[in-house]
Amino acid sequence: MMGQQMPKTIRRRTFLRQSTVAAAGAAIAHRTRSTLAAAAPTVPANDAKVDALLARMTLEEKIQMLHGSLRRGFIGYVPPIPRLGIPELALTDGPAGVRHGPGTAFPAPVALAATWDRSLAQAYGAALGAETKAKGQNVLLGPMVNIVRVPEGGRNFETFGEDPYLTAQIATAEIRGIQGQGVMAEVKHYAANNQEKDRLLVSAEVDERTLREIYLPAFEGAVKEAKVGSVMAAYNKVNGTFSSENTHLLKDILKGEWGFEGFVVSDWGATHSTIEAANNGLDIEMPGGKYFGEALLAAVRQGQVSQATIDEKVRRILNMLERFGFLDHPAKIGPLDYHAQGQTARRVAEAGVVLLKNQGNVLPLDVHNFKSIAVIGAYADRATSGGGGSARMSPFDTVSPLSAMAEKIGNRAALRFLKFVAGTDLSKSDPATTGAGLLADAEQLAKECDLVLLFARDFETEGADRAAISLPDEQGELISAIVRANPRTVVVLNTGCMVLLSPWADAVPAIVQAWYSGQDDGHVVADVLFGNVNPSGKLPITFPRMRADTGVATTEQYPGQNGRGLYSEGVFIGYRHFDKNNIAPQFPFGHGLSYTTFEYSNLKLGRNRIKPGESLTVELQLKNTGRREGAEVVQLYVQDVQASVPRPLKELKGFEKVLLRPGETKVVRLSLDARSMAFYDVSRKQWVVEPGQFKVMAGSSSRDIRLNAEFEVVA
Ligand code: BGC
Repeated sequence: MMGQQMPKTIRRRTFLRQSTVAAAGAAIAHRTRSTLAAAAPTVPANDAKVDALLARMTLEEKIQMLHGSLRRGFIGYVPPIPRLGIPELALTDGPAGVRHGPGTAFPAPVALAATWDRSLAQAYGAALGAETKAKGQNVLLGPMVNIVRVPEGGRNFETFGEDPYLTAQIATAEIRGIQGQGVMAEVKHYAANNQEKDRLLVSAEVDERTLREIYLPAFEGAVKEAKVGSVMAAYNKVNGTFSSENTHLLKDILKGEWGFEGFVVSDWGATHSTIEAANNGLDIEMPGGKYFGEALLAAVRQGQVSQATIDEKVRRILNMLERFGFLDHPAKIGPLDYHAQGQTARRVAEAGVVLLKNQGNVLPLDVHNFKSIAVIGAYADRATSGGGGSARMSPFDTVSPLSAMAEKIGNRAALRFLKFVAGTDLSKSDPATTGAGLLADAEQLAKECDLVLLFARDFETEGADRAAISLPDEQGELISAIVRANPRTVVVLNTGCMVLLSPWADAVPAIVQAWYSGQDDGHVVADVLFGNVNPSGKLPITFPRMRADTGVATTEQYPGQNGRGLYSEGVFIGYRHFDKNNIAPQFPFGHGLSYTTFEYSNLKLGRNRIKPGESLTVELQLKNTGRREGAEVVQLYVQDVQASVPRPLKELKGFEKVLLRPGETKVVRLSLDARSMAFYDVSRKQWVVEPGQFKVMAGSSSRDIRLNAEFEVVA
């Protein structure tokens, strides 16, 4: 049930006063730390021990640690060196569950992002970490923090959406959860890995400011705040150079500016050279040793890669093995409470469901109001537990929407199911036994029932982008026809990202976005539909009315031409684009309804004038004005009104999920650190807060701003 994870009171947070903008990241850390105690191992690496090991290692042994060795049953494997007591390194996917054998299918990461709940993100991470550990692995290949740029993106379901701040907040909390269990997280895919089409070759042509403001903040947070153990270098090139040999990304930014102490692993098959990759910052080649095996040994012997470079890589790995305790206690298989794992998965999934529309309060349903309920959908008899590719899980058990509805409804109403199969020839299937039927059968059934629950889904997977962002298999046509036949239709969407909802969205009274909600899919949806769970999820992405409305709409931008994808939209992706161009979305970023209502009042800023580099407190009152307990995500957006560079009309810079009983009021306090007001100044190579007017907007979505205030930054 929702609520257990919510803090009882929203307490005032202390925050560090920043004297320089460069230190602004620390304020984010501090703020998050006050709600989420960092549980990851903090024991500093025992340098003497690592030094001693390094001193005893032969060059061959060192090289052996710098590449994978294919081993049956393992996704990534670096063998142990028993002579020295160095343990194996076992790496497993991934972001939505621990793939080493069957296990818990957690809701897709996009559903986690839709919870807008840092404590749930930490719980999700802790559960992933516990399962990684129990399966005898020491590195979990996640989270994925690439930003949703391309609507069709095949891996959008693995991401935390279109906003860098939300992504960073969820990612850092999740990593703390994972690493708190004594295993390493591997944040991926560094960097600008935003499409599956041509993913092995395409070059993301992205300017430095956009990189810093949109595509890197979540990696930066993972390194600086969550102290992530490992980073995965992406398949694609960035500005012409493969990510796995990109010195600007790996050496200048990651290991230099951010002070990353862990190791960099190439995505599987993403290494393309020996000397360049070794000298430009890659530490481990995966999954084999084509470039970092014999070839690297030869390069060292010929003086093309120095001994010091090799030592640095090995030291990074040993340091992490030491920090996580694996040098003394190698990973080994252990027990796990799979029931508890399932409960965490279900709790997150429930909190991530987004109620997109609820005209006339059709929802929640009271089963006593209906004599007959139709369940229609091509896939309603199967759980939509997750997407495909390296995030796919094999759960022990799943619950389909159909079986969960049957459980909920019991014999209090007649439940009639039709499995709509686009293009099915009815003469070849017997609806009496298979329940399969065409559009006409579905319409007929809809007419005969008091209520229709219509389930639609899409299929997202690594390796291919979606052909279109409309619902596949004529499901859009099905919805249009059904709602004409019976206006009392509730549509449940199991999609990994945005889909087009026209032309039917206006006609359907209630739409529920349930994402890929993990192994308990059916229960999660049923509990929301029947009101056992009050929905509290908010969209981490914009739903456009039309594909052409989105910010990445030309071939040059996507899929790119001549191997180059131009990020010419700059920082204006997602809602930043819709705001700039004054385009009305179908459902805006941050949108999500509840079965109760909330009133915002009394927005107060700590001060009206601050100096560049200083933080600002923001306070408001939130009241539950309805008759049910419910949680609201208070969202804080900032606008730099007088910027000297083009800046978005609003950018998310704070949020808090607040649980309120009916009639209850709470004071919500947030703080804006210096980074919240800064942009990345390319010429000065640093984050800069410019003097001038700033606007603070507090709201229930990016297009439902309830309160405004202004402050001034004075030099
Ligand atoms: C994916 C990674 C994954 C790796 C190992 C690659 O294809 O891009 O995200 O971790 O495979 O399965």
